[in-house]
Amino acid sequence: MHMIRARVSPVLKWAGGKQGIASRLVEYFPSDFDRYFEPFVGGGSVLFTLQPLQAVIGDANEWLIDAYKAIREDHVRVAEILDSLENTKEEYIRIRSIRPAELPLFRRAAHLIYLNKTCFRGLFRVNRQGRFNVPYGQYDRRYYDPDNLRAVAEVLRNVNIRPGDFELCLHDITNRDFVYLDPPYYKLGGYSDFSRYTKDQFRANDHFRLAAFCRELDLRGVRWAVSNSNTSFIRGLFEGYYVTAIRNRREINLNSRNRDISELLITNYAPEKRTEQEELFKIEKSR
Ligand SMILES: C[S@@+](CC[C@H](N)C(=O)[O-])C[C@H]1O[C@@H](n2cnc3c(N)ncnc32)[C@H](O)[C@@H]1O
Repeated sequence: MHMIRARVSPVLKWAGGKQGIASRLVEYFPSDFDRYFEPFVGGGSVLFTLQPLQAVIGDANEWLIDAYKAIREDHVRVAEILDSLENTKEEYIRIRSIRPAELPLFRRAAHLIYLNKTCFRGLFRVNRQGRFNVPYGQYDRRYYDPDNLRAVAEVLRNVNIRPGDFELCLHDITNRDFVYLDPPYYKLGGYSDFSRYTKDQFRANDHFRLAAFCRELDLRGVRWAVSNSNTSFIRGLFEGYYVTAIRNRREINLNSRNRDISELLITNYAPEKRTEQEELFKIEKSR
């Protein structure tokens, strides 16, 4: 169950972020459930839109998970550290060279937000060694909005935050709960380095594992919704479930002639609500 409260925005810009479509996505969620699970939480745009009363979130990116823990514990302390960091190339290079594991929790969170707001195109990306490797962006903007940071901390107050793989995050889910899964998208062709959120990639094998896990949850009566790319590989993996094609303007699309692409929302229940923007949606049972 959830209540619609004040508007809360993500503190981090995240590759694959759902900010543009989050309010439409939640229309397809069931309205009656105990806990809301989001094991690929990323920037949290869906969580912050839904603002559930009880939630469990997870992500394999520990730096990100630690940032949420720090904000929940003391967002003012995180803000104070952010206020002390200068937006210059020298400072950026200095901050970027510090390993997050060497830092205390609150400073670790502040460094992630700082790098996210000052790096080129504002996107988190790491190399094979797990090091943040994006160049300086030279943007003149605030690192955070104090009111929004407080609101984010408020949403996180009742949230159980779990680092690691999605299967671990979901170990105690029951058939009274609901889970929204937004993994790194399966991509046809190249560009996979664009979505390197962790030092390990989310590969085809992981998509098989996720689909098998969803089938198992389905057998246990747990309701779920999964986002992924509109590709025959994904449609094949989730054969037999409900599919909604959703039009989304992707930020990271190297082909500028084709920025409006459709992606899938797959559910193991017939969605209750249809959006007002009917023309953007097509619900079909695959197969
Ligand atoms: C598409 S993003 C989620 C975007 C998010 N919905 C938003 O609006 O910002 C996918 C997330 O999955 C995380 N991830 C990658 N592999 C994972 C795994 N095996 N288990 C859990 N999370 C994983 C990445 O770190 C990334 O934050």
